[in-house]
Amino acid sequence: MSGPVRPTLVLVGPPGSGKSTVGRVLARRLGVSFTDIDVLIEERIGKTIADMFTQDGEDAFRALEREVVARALVETDGVLALGGGSVLAAATREALRGHRVVSLKVGLADGLRRTGMSTARPLLAGVNPRATFKALLDARAPLYREVATVEVDTVRRSANQVATAVLAAL
Ligand code: S3P
Repeated sequence: MSGPVRPTLVLVGPPGSGKSTVGRVLARRLGVSFTDIDVLIEERIGKTIADMFTQDGEDAFRALEREVVARALVETDGVLALGGGSVLAAATREALRGHRVVSLKVGLADGLRRTGMSTARPLLAGVNPRATFKALLDARAPLYREVATVEVDTVRRSANQVATAVLAAL
């Protein structure tokens, strides 16, 4: 019988920290697969996360996110990127214990630029994305720190450079 499947590493961090881009680079370099929780969720619901926020509300999204993350942590191998808000759930923070969790850090300016204040990110689509994003970074920083085994700064670094820093830090 084969043992349980576990991700090689899990990426967490705010929107715009580069989880998906860096995750793909890391997976390629490590020769493993890449899985993005946001993509798993969109495949499951058959619509975009933005549409789910509008039609079903954030609570419904968070409940589904918790479930999809819990499953992915025991069924996925390779590099796994979580959605930026996954760490809000205590159950998810608990489930991350014992995993190799890389927290990608990003500042206000870089994060906002990279997300392009996009309406694809429902939480940043409001009237004042800068204030919203700042509040999000402040509120979540301790949560990312809590789950992280390694923290890597992404500021002024390309995805390749961040991937190199991650591999050096493991
Ligand atoms: C969210 C981040 C998004 C997505 C959803 C909620 C958040 O993922 O899961 O829009 O709460 O920060 P990314 O971090 O990949 O943008």
